[in-house]
Amino acid sequence: MIKTSDILDEKDKHLRAPNKDVTFPLSKERKKLIKDMLEHLYYSQIDKYAEKYNLRPGMGLAAPQMGINEKFFVVCHEESEGNFNDYVMINPKMISHSEELIYASEGEGCLSVNRDVPGIVPRYARATFTGFDIDGKPIKIRVREELAIAFQHEYDHLHGIMFYDHIDPKDPYKNKDYMREI
Ligand code: NI
Repeated sequence: MIKTSDILDEKDKHLRAPNKDVTFPLSKERKKLIKDMLEHLYYSQIDKYAEKYNLRPGMGLAAPQMGINEKFFVVCHEESEGNFNDYVMINPKMISHSEELIYASEGEGCLSVNRDVPGIVPRYARATFTGFDIDGKPIKIRVREELAIAFQHEYDHLHGIMFYDHIDPKDPYKNKDYMREI
C-alpha cells in the first residue's frame, strides 16, 4: 500500500509540471500503482484503518501527486454508508458540465496539502467525463454533487492546478451566494 509519505507535498514541482497522455497497454507497474492508490484512499476513509496506518482521509489521487506526470487519476467514493466505489480515469476529458455551481461546505482538502485553506472552490454541480479505463476501454461517465467535486479536483491536478488556485485570498468566500453549498 502507498504510505502517506509517498504522496508528494504541494511544493513539489511535479504538481505544476505538464502531464503526458498515457499510452496503452499499461505496464504491470502502472496497474499495480493504480490499485495501490485506490487501496490507500479506501483505507483512509475507514477510521480504524486510517488510525492504524496513520492516513489522512482522502477521496482522490492524481498521478502527479505520486511523482508521475501522466494523465490519470483515481477516486474512491462512498456511495452510501460503507459502500465504496472505485473510479479510474485515464486521459480524461470533461466534455460538458452544468451551469449550476456548487461548493463543499467544509472547503476542499488535498492529500498533498497539509494545512487548512479557508475559502470556497466553485465547482460544476454535474459534469460528464470521457476517458479510458485501466484496460484502455473508452468510458463515459456523468458525475454529480460530491463525486463531481472530486472529479474536477483531480482533473485540475492533471492540468497543474491546485484547489486553492480557485480561491481569492483577499475574498475567500467570494460569490458564495451564487452557488449551492453541499
Ligand atoms: Ni488534490
